[in-house]
Amino acid sequence: MKNQLAIDGGKRAVSDEVKKNLQPWPPVYQETAEKLKAIYMSGKWSFNGPYEQEFSLKFAKYCGARHGVFMVNGTVTLESALHALGVKAGDEVIVPGNTWLATAMAAVYLGAIPVFVDVEPDTLCLDPEKVRKAITSKTKAIIPVHLFGSMADMDKFMKISKEFNIPVIEDCAHAQGGIWDGKGLGSIGHVGSFSFQQSKTLSSGEGGICLTNSDELADKLFRIKHIGYSAGQKQGMAASGPQEGMICHNYRGLEFNAAILLDAMKHLNAQTVLRDKNAMYFTELIKDVPGITVQSRGRKADRQGYYNFVLLLQPSKLKSGITIKEVQAALGAEGMGCGIGGYGPVYKHLLWSVPKSKFKIHSNDVVEDVCTNRQLGMSHTWLLTNKRLMKAMAAAVEKVMSAYCK
Ligand SMILES: Cc1ncc(COP(=O)(O)O)c(C=O)c1O
Repeated sequence: MKNQLAIDGGKRAVSDEVKKNLQPWPPVYQETAEKLKAIYMSGKWSFNGPYEQEFSLKFAKYCGARHGVFMVNGTVTLESALHALGVKAGDEVIVPGNTWLATAMAAVYLGAIPVFVDVEPDTLCLDPEKVRKAITSKTKAIIPVHLFGSMADMDKFMKISKEFNIPVIEDCAHAQGGIWDGKGLGSIGHVGSFSFQQSKTLSSGEGGICLTNSDELADKLFRIKHIGYSAGQKQGMAASGPQEGMICHNYRGLEFNAAILLDAMKHLNAQTVLRDKNAMYFTELIKDVPGITVQSRGRKADRQGYYNFVLLLQPSKLKSGITIKEVQAALGAEGMGCGIGGYGPVYKHLLWSVPKSKFKIHSNDVVEDVCTNRQLGMSHTWLLTNKRLMKAMAAAVEKVMSAYCK
């Protein structure tokens, strides 16, 4: 029977042959391997070396920001951003309920209180209207996350920022190469924070960067990550120190990582364009399939830097007894593996160890519903392939949903 589900013994919609272009991530390049060897042999591995300087400048420029401050990961970039913006113990920082722990932990590390606010049902990014209602006299920063590559509504967040005089940090860990209304993500808020961890679409295993257009913030960020030195100062030759009370760290990234990123950046644009094109094609193919929608693109996305592609189930349309787990298993059997739920809700995550008195939760109805019952995510690597695979994936979704919907 043509439409028999693979989970019931039918033929798989997504064969190994059609998946042959699906490559492991991150990609590796011979020219980078040679560069890494040369860096190793040079003995110049850290302390704002030439690769770090070149990458910081190039990446900032690519995103349309004046400054880039390279660091060891995308968690300390968020913490440093809050720190540079003056967030202190007891202050409140608004974050979405569905993000990786780091967005909220950045506040916790400074003794500040993360305040979890709900997300929009279409983009799954922080909801500006709900943020307005959560602002108090203690709110000292807002961190919208461009979740899985979709985009928080930066127009609304920058309006709120002006109105309440609260800075905005864009968490762009998932959104390398995204463009909102002509502007690179990470260059719109007061600081943009990126992660270059293993799975990210620009990756060096570990790494992170803060972008900013403010000279003052750039100096503070650099000092915070480099134990108080400013960017122009040589090790052991400080001409000036950080302001009193700004406790600085060693969050320095390595030359090896900066070199990997510089080479990876050569491919970023083409990879982002391909992912975006395939995502739009796949979305179009499944637009009439019953019982399923997709995470919306950023409302003003000129180009979206996909990290995950997210399918959203409509449980009310499913036959009785069918849940997200059955749909996931059936898609997996068709050859299309996807994960349920992403990260959130952060405050329920197994690794969330923060005592109840040290964070606040506003209503997170959308987060709870989406993460538990509705969200099926696929890695961005699926989008780095071709139309043929998109067609096979669409056939799998159609087959499963037609069988499982009322
Ligand atoms: C949304 C988000 N923010 C921040 C981070 C932290 O980045 P890193 O793992 O480089 O510390 C991650 C990492 O996965 C993330 O997904």
